[in-house]
Amino acid sequence: MYFYTRKALADAMKLMYERGLVSAFAGNISVRLQDGMAITPSGVHRHLLDVDDIVVVDWEGRRKWGKRKPSSEWRMHAAIYRARKDVYSVVHAHPRAVVALSELGFSPRGLAETKLFFGDNIPLVEKLPPGSEKLAEATSEALRSGGKAAVLASHGAVTLGRDVWEAEGLMEVLEEAAEILLFSLAPSAAQGLYRRKNMFYRLDYL
Ligand code: 13P
Repeated sequence: MYFYTRKALADAMKLMYERGLVSAFAGNISVRLQDGMAITPSGVHRHLLDVDDIVVVDWEGRRKWGKRKPSSEWRMHAAIYRARKDVYSVVHAHPRAVVALSELGFSPRGLAETKLFFGDNIPLVEKLPPGSEKLAEATSEALRSGGKAAVLASHGAVTLGRDVWEAEGLMEVLEEAAEILLFSLAPSAAQGLYRRKNMFYRLDYL
């Protein structure tokens, strides 16, 4: 069932693991199907992920195919598909620089490349428990009117695409932007040239 979709999910998840966008038991990817979605499993080491580990679930998270437990974030994926009919794949990762920037109260924005891919605004969703209905609601609400990415404060990020590879690629772009912003902050922080407050102003003007 859906062999090539499951293979793309497993391949993209492994790539994200190799690129350090997720650690062994973090992150999840899904693809919209007619009556539900194909989604990565919970509790399987991302390096070992196989095409047969992918699970097919309905919109209530009930397993229709596969042996593994579906990702604990299935509610968030389902809520995004309900809110956004133009989205066919959702990627959730824990990119380190994106999460670090969220700790300062920002999502990556302002760089020429970020604007090109994501527009002016990347919403920052408040800190909410992973896997919760509240997180699913808040994230889908933040993305309802458009956009291709949201940052989940102190947790990770979500990117959206018309297929797995677009959504995965956007996660790479998002993390690259966050790294550049953090690098640009580091020297001034180290030299004590800017107080924390001034660093926030600098980011606001980017
Ligand atoms: P799963 O392993 O259940 O997909 O969850 C990991 C995660 O990233 C939680 O936010």
